[in-house]
Amino acid sequence: MVVAVDGPAGAGKSSIAKIVASKLDLEYIDSGAIYRSLTKKILDSGLKIDDYTAIETILTTTELNIVNKKVFVNGLDYSLFIREKDVTDAVPVVSANPPVRSFVNGFLNKFFGDKPVIMDGRDIGTEVFPNADYKFYLDASVEERARRRCDELGTKCQSFEEIKSSISKRDYNDMNRQIGPLKKADDAIYIDTTQLSIDEVVNKIIECIK
Ligand code: DC
Repeated sequence: MVVAVDGPAGAGKSSIAKIVASKLDLEYIDSGAIYRSLTKKILDSGLKIDDYTAIETILTTTELNIVNKKVFVNGLDYSLFIREKDVTDAVPVVSANPPVRSFVNGFLNKFFGDKPVIMDGRDIGTEVFPNADYKFYLDASVEERARRRCDELGTKCQSFEEIKSSISKRDYNDMNRQIGPLKKADDAIYIDTTQLSIDEVVNKIIECIK
């Protein structure tokens, strides 16, 4: 069984998909972590993130792997660094790069093609697994997503307005890139999580699957 969960940043995809995975005994992968790990590797290599030719060249010697739910790039685990600001700022450019997208999609299909899995991202139901058995599109208002992000940051949340505008910018980038833009697959079930708790969303998804 393949379950695809797409939606904008902060819609609760990862928290919800992780719980559904453990309740239904599925593998779980956050495909954003792969784009983030590749971005960290590119930044560490000293390449410009918009140098598409150089990035395409390093992809020929790049190997992805997942071990114990962690993403490895050429044997290195970048998970401690992938939420840092420089990575978050650069990942929209790297993930809009067509060779990077086909590299990641090829890996995801090869690695998970024959496994029961729930995967979250932006293009899982449209591009990565267009034949997924179940597809969900999780959404929430931009205010609610910014509020959740601020709650996560706690005392480190300096400005709600700044967070809101950064989320709106990411929505715009994700929805308007040429390849693999964020959009609801025609056959995905749309869930507006603005007024729902994590448990309520998990229960809705499990009900649909059952
Ligand atoms: O979900 P996230 O914020 O960790 O995603 C990081 C970036 O990767 C974000 O800019 C969107 C992009 N992404 C993508 O383009 N396609 C995916 N399937 C997953 C993430």
